[in-house]
Amino acid sequence: MVLIDPWGSVLVKDYEDVIKTFGLETFNPKLFPEPNRLMRRGVVFAGRDLRILAGAIKKKEKFYALTGIMPSAERIHFGNKMVVEMMSYFQERGAKTYVLVADLEAAATRGISLEKARKTALDFHIPAWIALGLDPKKTTFYLQSENKEVVHMAYNFSKRITLNEFKSIYGSADPGRIMGALTQAGDILYPQLKERMPGVIPVGVDQDPHIRLTRDIVERTKSSYNFIPPSAVFNKFTPSLDGELKMSKSKPGSCIELPENPKEVCRKLKGALTGGRDTIDEQKKLGGEPEKCMIFELYKQHLIDDDKQLQKIYDDCKAGKLMCGEDKQHACELMTKFMEKFEKDMEKARKKVKELKFVEFK
Ligand code: TRP
Repeated sequence: MVLIDPWGSVLVKDYEDVIKTFGLETFNPKLFPEPNRLMRRGVVFAGRDLRILAGAIKKKEKFYALTGIMPSAERIHFGNKMVVEMMSYFQERGAKTYVLVADLEAAATRGISLEKARKTALDFHIPAWIALGLDPKKTTFYLQSENKEVVHMAYNFSKRITLNEFKSIYGSADPGRIMGALTQAGDILYPQLKERMPGVIPVGVDQDPHIRLTRDIVERTKSSYNFIPPSAVFNKFTPSLDGELKMSKSKPGSCIELPENPKEVCRKLKGALTGGRDTIDEQKKLGGEPEKCMIFELYKQHLIDDDKQLQKIYDDCKAGKLMCGEDKQHACELMTKFMEKFEKDMEKARKKVKELKFVEFK
């Protein structure tokens, strides 16, 4: 049996470079109990302080998982979905789970009012997170704008970092971004104000600058706060259907968002880049190249949980038994099911919003 190479994507080189350039650890799924689909298949491909995290899980010691919601449009993307899946993985393994609404950041960087941000988060984002697997009963929520302790930390951190350091981490430094980043560092460390413990922040790899900034701040505030540097796990991007590194809203024809009308999605899937040959005859003779195929990447990252089923598609494609037309039809069916389930689960989740545990600040 040919094994699916988790690194077997056209984008391999980029991710290996990222690991080297930023000094990340390569993610080893064997360190973790019952790794999920993303972990097994190398979609979660790197991290920071992974041993500390894995140790806490194995020894059943206290640790936390935290992420933030950016409440802008009423749409999310597959990158958000991966973060939620990782949050649920840690939640199911005992993490104290925190989800915050980045309303201050949305106001500072996108001009969205606090009221609008709060409403969008409650009506859309939090239900979406729940629909994708987050257990609301085991999650603590808060709004940045209400969390005085986070804001207070952000102010203290501002004394510990210079403009040049900021520029070297982020490449640029405008005041809104600086405020956003320092507040985010406050978020990431907030659970440790009450209790010093390891924590994990699951993110897309583009968010590493925030993790680095926070870890630098931890180092510099040792004598006052004495936090444990946060661990992180990084997922790859879901590539655009035309084969570009990342799905982007600026190319609507190649980007699938959540929720999206299944008919529309299937139309987009039809136009996706595959690893197919020029003619059917050639494909039957030579077999396809699933490692170059965006449909296969969608299966691997999102649509097919069962490793054996995924392997069979890979093998059939390689052997010239599976043609791209048929395969795209299959992807369309899976995506339709996924979108329909997502909408239904969102409806159910909306009913739970009233029962959420929001931290109250006096
Ligand atoms: N900046 C994040 C975004 O743009 C939102 C965010 C705020 C966040 N605080 C956080 C993410 C803490 C992870 C951890 O989506």
